[in-house]
Amino acid sequence: MKILYSVLAICFLFLGCQEKEPKKVAKAKKVYDLYQPSEMALLMDSMYKYNMQLKEEIMKGKIPEHMPMEFLKIHSAEFTKGKSRNETFNSFSKLFLQQQETIYDTTSTLSVSDRFNATVNVCVACHTTECTGPIPKINKLLIK
Ligand code: HEC
Repeated sequence: MKILYSVLAICFLFLGCQEKEPKKVAKAKKVYDLYQPSEMALLMDSMYKYNMQLKEEIMKGKIPEHMPMEFLKIHSAEFTKGKSRNETFNSFSKLFLQQQETIYDTTSTLSVSDRFNATVNVCVACHTTECTGPIPKINKLLIK
């Protein structure tokens, strides 16, 4: 029985969206080389890393220059098996790109950290519709 539970636990870790503990997932990835994250999962991870770095730069008072072109892949990247694009996803991805773009708008009257946080909130908003697992991790991007 114990083994069955561990196997089940590992399976859940592999479903990107069910993840609760990012650390455990990283471990699982190392041990089981067969795990192949989808294009979308890879894109999401790089959006996370990029925005974490951007947060640090903003906090140091740097002005971000432009959005990475890679982000446009949100319109075409393949999902993990079993998931697919739908209207909700499409409208949230448009909203997300628009919001991310505002971070680089030097004419804006809002502070750059407000614009950055609004972007993170769109990440979270889309995630509440279909992929709640990474939300606690995404919230760490917020500039307090
Ligand atoms: C339009 C909806 C949407 C937006 C916007 C969005 N995500 Fe995601 N995110 C998803 C979906 C769907 C998945 C699952 C992809 C898959 O499994 O193929 C995902 C997966 C993830 C994952 C898990 C990746 C993995 O390794 O399994 C992380 C982390 C993540 N998103 C962070 C972010 C961050 C940070 C942002 C904003 C900068 C963001 N997401 C914006 C829908 C979205």
